[in-house]
Amino acid sequence: MRKPLVMGNWKLNGTKESVTALVTALKAPADKAAPKAEVAVCAPAVFIGMVEQLAQGSQLQWGSEDCDIHTQGAYTGENSPVMLREFGCTYAIVGHSERRDYHKESNEYVAQKYQAAQANGLIPVLCVGESEAQFEAKQTMDVIRAELKAVIDLCGIKSFEKAVIAYEPIWAIGTGKTATPEIAQSVHQDIRAYLAQFDAEVAQGVRILYGGSCNAKTAPDLFKQPDIDGGLVGGASLKAPDFTAIIEAAVANA
Ligand code: 13P
Repeated sequence: MRKPLVMGNWKLNGTKESVTALVTALKAPADKAAPKAEVAVCAPAVFIGMVEQLAQGSQLQWGSEDCDIHTQGAYTGENSPVMLREFGCTYAIVGHSERRDYHKESNEYVAQKYQAAQANGLIPVLCVGESEAQFEAKQTMDVIRAELKAVIDLCGIKSFEKAVIAYEPIWAIGTGKTATPEIAQSVHQDIRAYLAQFDAEVAQGVRILYGGSCNAKTAPDLFKQPDIDGGLVGGASLKAPDFTAIIEAAVANA
């Protein structure tokens, strides 16, 4: 069955001091959870080397918040999937709504990032989700289907055997407005049903995380839902006690 995954997305946050304290504090909870749930943190690229050293000897995994489509070359400011692997990343988030929005990343470009990550040994965490206006216009699945289809067209449905999906309704990110467990479950179920049109086995196996004001309070009920396989956590992943409580909620529902 699907092993739950709790992943922190630190976004543009952290200092050497806070990263040291946070990773140090998360090692024991990650070890304790390991038989039942996986724990990972996705860090700003400058901190990934530090996280690698700090997390040594524990079950805590780490990843990047993005990755480039190229492995090397004249692409100033980018981070290549090969470099990220060299620093021990397991995961790379691709297509986070903040990047789709602020950096104008199209569905096709995100699919290329997903492909580059996978081709170089990273597990892409593909973020999908609708804006508030799209939610109100009942376009949630239209948006998500297009985001998924771009990846299926480029990489094939079987690529989801080595990927994670994160449903992140944009209206719930950093707003304190969590999707209700019922809304989230219904979208997760629809995502799985859409993928099942291409390959039922792949659809059953792929982990779909929920993200958007997932915190110590909201996680337990979200994680009880049958199609929610863990969380992609922003704000609450920066505080060790809160993130630990979310990890424990995943373990309790594993
Ligand atoms: P918050 O948990 O801060 O709402 O952020 C969610 C998110 O964007 C994770 O990728």
